[in-house]
Formats: sequence, structure tokens, C-alpha cells
Amino acid sequence: MARILVVDDDPDLRDLLVAVLEAGGFEAESVSSAGEALTRLGATEIGLVLSDVRMDGMTGLDLVEAIRKRPRPVPVILMTAFGGVEEAIDAMKAGADDFLQKPIRPELVLARVRKVLESSTLRRRVEELEGLTVPDVVHSSPTMGGLFAKLPVVARSDVPVLLTGETGTGKDVVARAIHRASGRRDHPFVAVNCGAIPENLLESELFGHRKGAFTGADRDKNGLFAEANGGTLFLDEVGDFPLSLQVKILRALEEGQIRPVGGTKPVPVDVRIIAATHVDIAAAVAEGRFRQDLYYRLAVVLLHIPPLRERPEDLVDLVQRFLRELGARHGRPDMKISPEALRRLERHSWPGNIRELRNRLTEAMLFATDRIEPEHLNLPVASESPLPPRTTEGIEGGDSGSDYAAARRTFERAFLKGALDRSHGNVVRAAEETGLSRRQLYNMFRELQIDPKAFR
Ligand SMILES: Nc1ncnc2c1ncn2[C@@H]1O[C@H](COP(=O)(O)OP(=O)(O)OP(=O)(O)O)[C@@H](O)[C@H]1O
Ligand SMILES: [Mg+2]
Repeated sequence: MARILVVDDDPDLRDLLVAVLEAGGFEAESVSSAGEALTRLGATEIGLVLSDVRMDGMTGLDLVEAIRKRPRPVPVILMTAFGGVEEAIDAMKAGADDFLQKPIRPELVLARVRKVLESSTLRRRVEELEGLTVPDVVHSSPTMGGLFAKLPVVARSDVPVLLTGETGTGKDVVARAIHRASGRRDHPFVAVNCGAIPENLLESELFGHRKGAFTGADRDKNGLFAEANGGTLFLDEVGDFPLSLQVKILRALEEGQIRPVGGTKPVPVDVRIIAATHVDIAAAVAEGRFRQDLYYRLAVVLLHIPPLRERPEDLVDLVQRFLRELGARHGRPDMKISPEALRRLERHSWPGNIRELRNRLTEAMLFATDRIEPEHLNLPVASESPLPPRTTEGIEGGDSGSDYAAARRTFERAFLKGALDRSHGNVVRAAEETGLSRRQLYNMFRELQIDPKAFR
């Protein structure tokens, strides 16, 4: 049975909730602040967090965000103020799984906790299954196309990779793509963002600890290195790792073994490391904030992901992909975008890159009825890039980008037929030649009504 962590600055409510949860058959414990909650999450297995929104210091919303960045995000239910509709919306926006309005009705608590636990188990299973399929990653631009062409070789090589790129450019996405294309795909992919973990707990998060190693360590706990055994460990924002830990990571890489906190014997581990950073790590090395030896060890392969403003060819595809994905999720499968809105997107400089694009489209979708217009996008005028907008032929005349879609289909049909001609209808060879997966090819054949057998 999952252990529930209650976070509230009101001791009476804390006791009440713990009692209710225990009566419902859960293990439960409580802390009085979000900071303490993060500490407990690092020290012991927690299955769900039930937290107040309004607290001094870090709020419940901040806590949700910090938990979302953790390697194994646990579901969170937030308790919002009575009648606080805004707060409830904020809670869901921040990524909470559900909310309970105060005053708390004990009989509701158990039902909601059970529901959230069930759906999060289900979601995890779906994510695991999705992990086995080819990811729907857009790479239409020449730069991203080139990068993706290299991925199979990089993936198979098993050497460390360092990904650089501004925030939201897709470092996470690329790291996962490497893992899936590698021989380690059937083993875990574990991501760790050191910024999301209190510094005093980082070592034990990474390397694990033995029971009694520090206060609160009430049982042995495996670290993320052990959890990623056989698979890939993704060290996100590696530039932020404290120097004291950098040396331990270096040792783990060199020796292939780790030392759990409070343990005496080293434990062998077999992990492939992919690291990512949005800061200039070479500069950090020059300034002594990052160990040079670790840098060389991580940057065996260095992949730079360019910002979105430098690869405008990806934008339209990303928009179409997000409209499909978000439309399905929010029950608006037929959502369109107007040519003016698309041009507005093309003129924006996207400091937050693809994540920002996705967020803008999510919000626009909430306000648009059936077509996203420029005013739904909520883009500040001052942020427009000084670059001239790229050509929008094909979209110009269309009422919802349909001309672009038609042009694209024409191109795709010719492209695929050419590849099938050369491979005499052999789909495996066509996949190798085009860099597309077989699954992608078959999907496109179906969509474009091409029969590969006709080319034999
Ligand atoms: N090529 C792509 N195709 C489709 N979606 C993408 C692509 N690249 C990124 N995304 C989406 O954009 C968002 C941000 O990507 P991601 O989390 O990988 O960025 P990041 O570089 O790791 O950012 P940060 O530095 O902030 O951690 C995610 O929702 C991701 O799914
Ligand atoms: Mg990331």
C-alpha cells in the first residue's frame, strides 16, 4: 500500500488527515512545509503527496513544480481554499493530479486519493508502453535532420553523450531517443535533475544509502545509478552539480561502481550516461565551477541542439503535431490555426523554444472556439524577432493551413515513391535510405494510399 505524505502548516489538519488515511488502510506521515516534503521524498518511498496550497515560503504550487522535475514524480493532490476557483485552476495548471477544496471532507479524501493512485499507475503503464514505440519527434529542418541521422550510430556506441542547447530545445527528447535506439532500450531510462533535489540529499539520491546513514534514513534505499542499472542515466543540468558530487560521479564512471551513503562496500553498476546542460559548460570549466576531467569524460560525443528560431522549418510541423496531440487531449480534435496566427508564431523569437510554443498553443486552445487566431496566442509584441518572416507561401491563401498540408502530401508522395522505386518495394531498405522508421513509412503509405508491393 502506498505511503502518503501530508503537507500542511496546520497541525490539527495534518493529524486529522493522517488519521483518515490510516483508517483507510494507507501508511501516512506529515510535514509542515514544502521544503521538508522534498527532503522526505528524497529519504523514503512516497506514493502520493497531499499538500496545502497556501503555505509560508514555498507554496503548494511551487512544490508541485519541484516534484514534476524529480526523477520519479509522484502524484500530488492540492488542497485549495474554499471557493478559490482561481487557485484550483492554478493547481491543475501547475501539474497537480487533482485538488480538494477546503474545508476538507474526510470521506472525500480517501476516494480522491484512491482515484489518483489508480490513474497514475495506469499512466505509468501507458508511458512504459509508449516508450517502446517510435517517438513522434519532429526533425524536418536540415540541422535537426542531420542530428537525427547521427543518432543511430551514437546510440549504438554506448559512449557518454553531452547535449547542449537552450531551455526547451528538446534535450530531454533527444536523450530519450538515444536510449530507445540503443541496445539498452529494454532497461530503464532514469532522469535526474539536480536542481530539483536539495543539495544535502543529492548524493543519496544518486548513489543510494544504507539504513541509518542519516536521520530519516529508516531503510536501505537504492539510488538512481542502481535504478538505471543496465540502462541509461540522464544527468540533466549537469552544469549545476556541486563540485563535491562531480568527483563522485567521475569515480563512478571510471570505476563502474558506486558507494552508497553510509555503505562500506562499493557496488558495481552498468549505466550509460547522457548529460545535458543549457549553460556554457566550457566556460564553467574555465572558471573552475566544473571539473575538466569530468567534462572530458561526459563530452565524448557532443551534440548541440539549436534554438527554435534557428530552425524555422520545424515550426509548422511542430504546430501541426501539437494541435493534434493537444486537441486529442483537450477534446478539441478539429482545432485549426489561422494563417495570421501561424505568421505571428513565425515572427516570434521563442526564447523558451519548443516548450514555449507548446505552452502558447495549449493556452490558445483553451480560448479558441474552432480556430486559433493571433489574439489567442498571448505573445508580447516586443518579443518579435528582428528577422524577416520566412516565406509562408502555401499557407497564405489557405483558410486553415490546408494548402501547406496539400503541398506536403505532394512532396511526401513523390519522395516515398522515389525511395520505393530504388528499393524495388523493399520497405526495410527504404527505411534505411530515408532515415524513417518502418512504422513511420507504413503510416505514411496508409495515409497516402501507396502500396509498396506495386514497386516490386
Ligand atoms: N523535436 C521535437 N518534436 C516534438 N516535440 C518536441 C521536440 N523537441 C522538444 N519537444 C517538446 O518540447 C518540450 C520541451 O522539450 P524538452 O523537455 O526535451 O526540452 P529541454 O531542452 O530538455 O529543456 P530544459 O533545458 O528546460 O530541460 C517537451 O514538451 C517536448 O516534448
Ligand atoms: Mg530538460
